Amino acid sequence: MRILVTTALPYANGDIHLGHLAGCYLPADIYCRYQRSKGRDVIHIGGTDEHGVPITLLAEREKKSPQEIVDFYHKRIKDSFEKFGILFDNFSRTSLPLHHKTSQDFFLKIYEKGYIYPKKVRQFFCPNCQFFLADRYLEGTCPHCQNPKARGDQCEECGRWLEPFMLLEPKCKTCGGLPEERETEHYFFALSRFQKQLADWIKEKRHWKENVKRFCEGWFRQGLEDRAITRDLPWGVKVPLPEAKGKVLYVWFDAPIGYISSTMEWAEKMGKKDLWKEYWLSSETRLIHFIGKDNIVFHAIVWPAMLMAYGDFILPAEIPANEFLNLEGRKISTSENWAIWLPDYLKEFPPDPLRYALANNLPENRDIDFTYKEFQAKNNNELADIYGNFVNRVLLFIKKNLGEIKEGKVEDEVRAKIEEVKKEAEDLIERFRIRDGLKVLMALPSFGNRYFDYQEPWRTVKSDRKRCEKTIFNCLKLIEACEVLLRPYLPFTSEKMRRMLSLKERNWDELEDNSFFTTSPQLGEIEILFNKIPDEKIEIELKKLKGETMEITIEDFKKIDLRVGRIINAERVPGSDKLLKLEVNLGSELRQIVAGIGSVYEPEELIGKNVCVVANLKKAKLRGVESYGMILAAEDGAVISLLVTDKEIRPGSPVL
Ligand code: 2FM
Ligand code: ZN
Repeated sequence: MRILVTTALPYANGDIHLGHLAGCYLPADIYCRYQRSKGRDVIHIGGTDEHGVPITLLAEREKKSPQEIVDFYHKRIKDSFEKFGILFDNFSRTSLPLHHKTSQDFFLKIYEKGYIYPKKVRQFFCPNCQFFLADRYLEGTCPHCQNPKARGDQCEECGRWLEPFMLLEPKCKTCGGLPEERETEHYFFALSRFQKQLADWIKEKRHWKENVKRFCEGWFRQGLEDRAITRDLPWGVKVPLPEAKGKVLYVWFDAPIGYISSTMEWAEKMGKKDLWKEYWLSSETRLIHFIGKDNIVFHAIVWPAMLMAYGDFILPAEIPANEFLNLEGRKISTSENWAIWLPDYLKEFPPDPLRYALANNLPENRDIDFTYKEFQAKNNNELADIYGNFVNRVLLFIKKNLGEIKEGKVEDEVRAKIEEVKKEAEDLIERFRIRDGLKVLMALPSFGNRYFDYQEPWRTVKSDRKRCEKTIFNCLKLIEACEVLLRPYLPFTSEKMRRMLSLKERNWDELEDNSFFTTSPQLGEIEILFNKIPDEKIEIELKKLKGETMEITIEDFKKIDLRVGRIINAERVPGSDKLLKLEVNLGSELRQIVAGIGSVYEPEELIGKNVCVVANLKKAKLRGVESYGMILAAEDGAVISLLVTDKEIRPGSPVL
């Protein structure tokens, strides 16, 4: 039995936010980590979705090429997933030649089987811009809710799907001009021919979540219609037919094929070119698509129909689709910047508290509200006060009173508790009830605290040392169980614990091993597992979210010593493509400053520039290189611009 897990490929046109994480990436990661710990053959396949109108629109707005946009965001998305501990076996991109070829082959095969056919359609064309207005290039008034900014494919306001000709007062989004109807040809996928097969298939999925089943039934009731799967756009996978010049595949046709091409890329990287077939072509594989609810129709209807049309591939076994995460009582909106972006979060906090708060409140069955206050409460009252406290008091007790860790025997009561929690959690996680799984697991550290209190080792250490040692041994057994069983949820915390106790990385079922720790545990330096988050910090984050800035006094401002510095030397910090080591003339001295601008500036072009320097910043070490200050730059997504003086001015001059 193999498990092939995929997560929706995010568009490479922006950062990941909390809604994405709660929607599919975090639950998928927890699920995969759990399965790996169970010793199962599981791979997590993902990547970025780099085609479609969301990308080209942003490229136009930023006056960049689509390629530049997706290069930039692919890297950022990959990077922030890594830092947040979302593990992928392969994280690919749909702009790769391998993906283009795989999608074209897919198209051709079902075209040859007669499931794709050309059809003349009337479409809006902008005479001013000289192109057909695909999807979001067309704007108009929604016929259902009168929202004047509805798009050609969907109204964001009322959520309804639209066809271009349903829009009242249609306009070209690019120039605002009046579009005209013209005839063009597009390729259609014969979705209607799969209605019966799809309905029968879904009927068998009795255990699937209600949201997915209900959604599909609604579509079947309306009757499935054939769908246009090509667009007139310069960016995307070219339609592999000589007569289809200038046409590309609709992004939702090629994106899910990305799951296959990413698995192929993985196999290539593993040095076993055909390994992907063992996953995609074998009935021994369980294919699981983690997605958010906005993607249900594509994963539960269109994509399975594509796979049925193709014929060889397995069909999804599970589609755990989550509902939406709201933020502070409001729907997350990227256009209004009502979102918490992962890179921003990671600048302020470690990953595990957010993994914990989100996992505790995943929108598995209904929309859920995320608030900073609750995030703080989860961190302070549960992670720090229960889990962190248990681990900390036991380790401190050893350090203070025992000095070493002695082997002992696990008490029945303790063993039973670990067994019970483990079984229950397993059962829940297997059924994608990730949230409940965490609640069950958190009973372990709570139990540990109660056990510690009840056994009163601080008393028995004087009256009955043997008993005290036994208590502590059992506490350590519980700590080990926490490390292993909570690891899928809190991987960074578990890593810290293994470091503190020099524990071997044991797997889920190795806990049953009676022998206790395989290597005898050594108490290393005791680190705090979770720092409490103070109210002020939460206030600041809330203000940032609301776009309010913190007021400061002129005295506050004067604390910053800003000066003009002239860059006289610049070189890359080895092993980093972001960091540059600069030598800056500050008038009375030369300063070494490390700046994170290496992805947008070449060292040579910086020499001689007069920049603005924070001269009294505490010394810091970046990648082992010391930095004595900071240079100021403005940042807007991919654009980073140094703030330079606009007249020649003496280095060291104060900035006022
Ligand atoms: O909604 C989105 O962000 C899409 N890019 C998801 C694609 S999922 C899959 F089909 F690739
Ligand atoms: Zn136009």
